[in-house]
Amino acid sequence: MKNSMGNVLILTLFGESHGPYIGAVLDGLAPGMPVDEAFIRDQLALRRPYGKISTSRVEADEFVLASGVFNGKTTGTPLTILIPNTQQQSRDYEENRFLPRPSHADYTAYVKYRGFEDYRGGGHFSGRLTAALVAAGAVVLPALKEKGIIIGTHIRTLGKREDMPFSEDSEILAGQIQRINEQRFAVLDADAADGMIKAIEEAAADKDSIGGTLETAIAGMPAGIGEPWFDTLEGEIAKWVFSIPGIKGVEFGNAFSLTEKTGSEYNDAFSITEDGQIITKTNHNAGVNGGISNGMPIIFRTAVKPTPSIFRPQETVDLKRGEKTVLTLSGRHDPAIIHRVRVVQDSVTALAMADLLSLHYGTDYLGK
Ligand SMILES: Cc1cc2nc3c(=O)[nH]c(=O)nc-3n(C[C@H](O)[C@H](O)[C@H](O)COP(=O)(O)O)c2cc1C
Repeated sequence: MKNSMGNVLILTLFGESHGPYIGAVLDGLAPGMPVDEAFIRDQLALRRPYGKISTSRVEADEFVLASGVFNGKTTGTPLTILIPNTQQQSRDYEENRFLPRPSHADYTAYVKYRGFEDYRGGGHFSGRLTAALVAAGAVVLPALKEKGIIIGTHIRTLGKREDMPFSEDSEILAGQIQRINEQRFAVLDADAADGMIKAIEEAAADKDSIGGTLETAIAGMPAGIGEPWFDTLEGEIAKWVFSIPGIKGVEFGNAFSLTEKTGSEYNDAFSITEDGQIITKTNHNAGVNGGISNGMPIIFRTAVKPTPSIFRPQETVDLKRGEKTVLTLSGRHDPAIIHRVRVVQDSVTALAMADLLSLHYGTDYLGK
């Protein structure tokens, strides 16, 4: 029953949706990293629900840095983030205690934890815990930026609606990352936002939910990071993003559609810039060769499923009676999670990169 992740920068995640606190412990941080509480707050605000496109459970996310920070810098000892839960409505979950929601983790948690799990609001499996991932990510993102590494995620598709892809030009890409990091609903083409928001509102009005794909870019990652075979850059990113509830697929670059190309079309030819930097002329391999970064932008997409809790009647089984039944939910749920997951994806990507960089250069690297 593992709740920790990382090779040398180890994150432990704890809490339940309706318990008193959620939080995270980060162990293996370099001493001397600046901790910007205002930035942590801004990042948490990007995850916070708003309007008709989100759940009406809105938490203030008043976090406490309970250890590991002194005079605004990391000490290098375990850093503990505590975030109180204040907006619980547990009665919504009592009547359906033994009626698992289709597509949610109620049934699997019931089996694994033998009925001892805190089932209220999805318990330990709730998207609520991703607030702690965002706060932890916000501890390492500024240190990565200091090293010239920037990360950004946008909503590439929502239902059948599309945003434009990231640019292949490094300078334009850097500008795009900067721009989307300031947006609450992150799209590259401003015109795409209205249609996507309308699609979420329509799904909500229809007592339904909707999913989509997120696209993330990591720019400025030095070549040579990642391990061969088992702790590959792709494998580590995949493991971190699959920790996010609701993610069901990962693709590096346009991996699946690019399989239609031949080798001569697919291969990324090497070139060299005037200042002697090795680059590739195309980036079909999405910045990774042999599990190791090649210095080009690392681009990946994830599939975010439609929110499981919908307000239409759904078939399920009463686990206590052992009978088929119909579940009709009430309570508060997101009609889509993708616009909230986007900053979570940035955060776990930052943690994955911080861990691999610390593995390669040593744990002091991000504090220097
Ligand atoms: C930020 C965020 C918010 C979420 N909100 C809800 C929600 O309101 N209702 C719901 O049923 N699922 C919600 N989810 C998704 C479930 O937590 C997730 O589907 C469930 O734990 C099962 O995990 P899986 O989809 O990875 O299999 C949310 C996920 C995230 C990341």
